[in-house]
Amino acid sequence: MAFDIDMIKGVYANMAERVDKAREIVGKPLTLSEKILYSHLWDGNPTTAFKRGKDYVDFAPDRIACQDATAQMALLQFMQAGKKKVAVPTTVHCDHLIQAKSGAVKDLKAANSTSAEVFDFLESVSNKYGIGFWKPGAGIIHQVVLENYAFPGGMMIGTDSHTVNAGGLGMVAIGVGGADAVDVMAGMAWELKFPKLIGVKLTGNISGWTSAKDVILKVAGILTVKGGTGAIIEYFGEGAKNLSCTGKGTICNMGAEVGATTSTFGYDDSMERYLRATDRNEVADEANKIREYLTADDEVYANPEQYFDQVIEINLDELKPHLNGPFTPDLATPVGELGVKARENGWPINVDWGLIGSCTNSSYEDLTRAASIAKQAITKKIKPKSDFGINPGSEQIRYTAERDGLLQIFEDLGATVFTNACGPCIGQWDRSDLKGDEKNTIVHSFNRNFSKRADGNPNTHAFVGSPEMVAAIAISGKLDFDPMNDTLINEDGEEVKLDEPMGIELPIKGFEVEDAGYLEPIEDGSGVEVKVSPESERLQLLTPFEPIQPEEMQGVKLLIKAFGKCTTDHISMAGPWLRFRGHLDNIANNTLIGAVNAFNKKTNFIKNQLTGEYGGVPDVQREYKAKGIKTIVVGDHNYGEGSSREHAAMQPRHLGVAAVLVKSFARIHETNLKKQGMLALTFANESDYDLIQEDDTFNFVDIANFAPDVPLTIEVVHADGSKDTIKANHTYNDAQIGWFKEGSALNVIKRENAA
Ligand code: F3S
Repeated sequence: MAFDIDMIKGVYANMAERVDKAREIVGKPLTLSEKILYSHLWDGNPTTAFKRGKDYVDFAPDRIACQDATAQMALLQFMQAGKKKVAVPTTVHCDHLIQAKSGAVKDLKAANSTSAEVFDFLESVSNKYGIGFWKPGAGIIHQVVLENYAFPGGMMIGTDSHTVNAGGLGMVAIGVGGADAVDVMAGMAWELKFPKLIGVKLTGNISGWTSAKDVILKVAGILTVKGGTGAIIEYFGEGAKNLSCTGKGTICNMGAEVGATTSTFGYDDSMERYLRATDRNEVADEANKIREYLTADDEVYANPEQYFDQVIEINLDELKPHLNGPFTPDLATPVGELGVKARENGWPINVDWGLIGSCTNSSYEDLTRAASIAKQAITKKIKPKSDFGINPGSEQIRYTAERDGLLQIFEDLGATVFTNACGPCIGQWDRSDLKGDEKNTIVHSFNRNFSKRADGNPNTHAFVGSPEMVAAIAISGKLDFDPMNDTLINEDGEEVKLDEPMGIELPIKGFEVEDAGYLEPIEDGSGVEVKVSPESERLQLLTPFEPIQPEEMQGVKLLIKAFGKCTTDHISMAGPWLRFRGHLDNIANNTLIGAVNAFNKKTNFIKNQLTGEYGGVPDVQREYKAKGIKTIVVGDHNYGEGSSREHAAMQPRHLGVAAVLVKSFARIHETNLKKQGMLALTFANESDYDLIQEDDTFNFVDIANFAPDVPLTIEVVHADGSKDTIKANHTYNDAQIGWFKEGSALNVIKRENAA
């Protein structure tokens, strides 16, 4: 599928020299993460030892991957950059815009009709600019990337936060906003703060009901949703080597759920096996030649405390299967202890759905492990109590799984096999069994379980587990079922127990596919016309943002003070809104509608300071915009966690929000705000959050002197005329301040291209 062997050979040709040089400069043995980072510096050979968590560094990624929801805005931006072709190999994957409802054939047909305009746009823009295009139904971006493009020691960015999945094949792969991807597509460097490093040593071996998923569910419990922020997690140890490549992918995938920049594993036999099974012998042969550069130096793993900023050790022999949730992926509970916890918290015990799939757990091995449980329901005559839904990771996996009789097992159980796409994982689920917003429980093998994520219902309690555990729980229909100890009553009234899952790492007869769903772009795309209708409600060509002037930063009104968790889903909801991802003005109508107003604890209900009345966030904001009044959003910790979507920054920007002031940011969202020419600020004193009142006005008194490492001073004027002066920290460097001053990073690229 056109993996670029010459590009990979080029990366490997430089690797030894650059890594040796880096080791000399850093003055100590190197982790794998450092080897990859230092061999991908924009300037070539390393000359500086970077300070982790401090220095901004320019990198040269090898690849870019985009999914259909984020690619629309990224490519609309790229079209403005004035380039003929993308500068590095890039692919677009149509996986988010396909609703799961009746089953793969009908659902795909429906998506191809309802989203034809968007798919046609993405196909033509890909063809024009030299981008590989994966059609709807071809598969979920991260499985397709793992099967076709990921390679040990490579660096990739992708416009999706689970791009990190490719760490399973030894990459440093990082989720970015579309604006970052546009920089790299346009031939510019990609900037990242040199990450800190967390080492996770895996001892012992996975066995029985415990799976790779449980490693990351456990790590999520340890690190919480913020614990990996600004860090690469590097896994090592005997336990790591014994995991399959796709299992490693699962672990890396959910590194996004602890906020990690990315996660990775050193090159090993499982990766070689996977490369060869996915028709990439050449890549495996090349990787074998520089094997020692594709993993850390021996000394690092022998004495990890000396080389990592934090070390976690997990004994896989003792690791128990977990179910994490509800509403947050870091609420980790061993399966046997879930019943007590559920009853204490009033979580519904009856399970309505078991969903297997998503980019996290839809590999061939995942399907075999889940199928080995599903099959027992048939042979042991247990009637499943929950509904089953399956999303295979790619057409190659689906075709092979069908050939090998795996899908038939699920179908015999009454499961619906949905399209090879994201489906319920991103709220693309027409769930027929729900009448309203009744309280209910589902279990799934996905990565995220934020409120409303799967079906839009705030009362759906979603728990994350391994595919085989999901299968077992769904068969039992009970959240408190523990397949390791509990029995079930079958149709003959007998007590039966489920045997441990059995997985097949790679298909014994090899992978097979008839039409993988890939379209190679033509050599010269200059004649390709990209159509965007001015009447379209789904696509809109962009107009550049105007710079925010210092005088506009006086008399700034509070739009909303968000209370508690405010993820990118709260800022720019997915689900039904996905259809507007390519139309900035239309999608802006969902801006912050999921954020909880700190003053009344309601969503989408804020005070309009001009009228004193309450209204929805986008409506109130549009009134401020009409009057030319800039606004500010105030938020809590880890603001903008979740996905990489730059819509969460572009929408507020489009509507006239000038600044976001929070206790702390999720990394990608902070960068996205900067890229769109906004102010992303943090309270120097966290408790100042409590000073902010509903009728406040903000004066950015020293914005004209905006400079790196100098906090900004904000005068907060309350309704009674009293004032508080607070300090706001920021992480802007000179170049980023340039983005603010010129209106956006894209404005800077365009000016530089024109010069
Ligand atoms: Fe898709 Fe869910 Fe992954 S939305 S890319 S399957 S996190």
